[in-house]
Amino acid sequence: MAKRAGFATRIGAIAASVGSAVGLGNIWRFPYEAGENGGGAFILVYVLFVLVLGIPVMLSEFIIGRSTHKSMMGALRELMPGSRVHWFTLVCIAGSVITLSFYSVVCGWVCEYLYLSLTGQLTGHSVQEYGGIFSTFVASPWRCLGWTWLFLAVNFVVMLGGVQRGIERMSRVLMPLLFLLLIVFMVNSLTMPGSAQGLKFIFTPDFGKLTFEGVLDALGQAFMSLSLGVACMVTYASYFQDNSSLIKDAGVVAMLDTLVAIMAGIVIFPAVFSFGLAPEAGPKLVFEVLPSIFQQMSGGAVWCVLFFLLLLFASLTSTISLSEISIAFAIEERGASRNRATLWCAVVVVAIATLCALSFNVLDQVKILGRDIFTLLNDASANVFMPLGGLFTATLVGWFLDRRVVRGQLEQGDTLSRRLSPCVVWCLRYVAPAAIVLIFLHYTGVL
Ligand code: PFF
Repeated sequence: MAKRAGFATRIGAIAASVGSAVGLGNIWRFPYEAGENGGGAFILVYVLFVLVLGIPVMLSEFIIGRSTHKSMMGALRELMPGSRVHWFTLVCIAGSVITLSFYSVVCGWVCEYLYLSLTGQLTGHSVQEYGGIFSTFVASPWRCLGWTWLFLAVNFVVMLGGVQRGIERMSRVLMPLLFLLLIVFMVNSLTMPGSAQGLKFIFTPDFGKLTFEGVLDALGQAFMSLSLGVACMVTYASYFQDNSSLIKDAGVVAMLDTLVAIMAGIVIFPAVFSFGLAPEAGPKLVFEVLPSIFQQMSGGAVWCVLFFLLLLFASLTSTISLSEISIAFAIEERGASRNRATLWCAVVVVAIATLCALSFNVLDQVKILGRDIFTLLNDASANVFMPLGGLFTATLVGWFLDRRVVRGQLEQGDTLSRRLSPCVVWCLRYVAPAAIVLIFLHYTGVL
């Protein structure tokens, strides 16, 4: 098969991967997961998982993608000829569609908040009133649906137009801007009265507060945040140039992604304690706290618009990477045209996203495994599909792939990569599979 067009530069490849990794997972999901699971201990376990599971699993995806220059199914067929392992791609696609569905509902929330801030409706309220604004919004089916659908429409028009690369290029300017904004907000939060309590909450691990479910949540959050287990990084790595150091690239992506998540924590928690709010508020946490923070900053209305705009952009680069997984599959494996593939993907995602958006209002009584539909899909994607996908690629690359291919890919680039390569292989063979299986078994009550 002809080699596909690649990213022109190494920076381009890293930027696209960071664009996929940095999104709502860092700024919305990480703070509320940390808040629900007691803060410091969760964050410590999270960082540990990023290092010993996240980076190696990301490398396993990079190896599969770059060694073949194909997306998941074609790559697996080429790497493991005569086997049926390529069918696992369908699990990855299911994971990506589920993730995209619940994720786009939260993107809809960001749209609503951008609209509210643009129209001046997000200023001049008390902390308690901000909680009310969120509850009233999600209780309204049409508003939730309208924004979710609008966001998905934009996402799929981008996919149709083939302008993803343009969006990714723009994100090279906008992402650093988001980063700068977070620094400003961090400084602001740290000067709030009572901020020390928030810092203590995130930086003093209290393992008494961390349950086993919290450990699984940390694992799922690490995978979600690094865009792992759904073949996304396989697709991106299929466009990488052959001569860069994968280990360095994975390290940079993981470091930047983790930095953004921790920065979001430093913005949110000092403010949570300063305002006397509950850190375990769940998915609404950030939507209650951020407007309250902007409210007491000078020029808050402008910060607010800028922030939600950049967050929306960061989310769009993540949903683009999520959409590309099933669209590339339909085009490459089923011979569909780009239009048809995009349309089919859109129909399925809109249907599931609609159920998710309605689970806060019309369908709030519908419970599956004790969870509403949104929570079910949020948990299923991070805590089941992604770790399962990670287990698959880690085991495949660690145990079954031709050693020469693995080492050739890992040792490319520089001497540091050559030194670290055995360590990565060891993590892929033993640490990642053992940790994921143990956590699964414990969670399901087998162990
Ligand atoms: N990593 C993204 C975030 O943290 O917001 C979410 C995501 C994107 C997950 C792409 C999976 C994926 F394939």
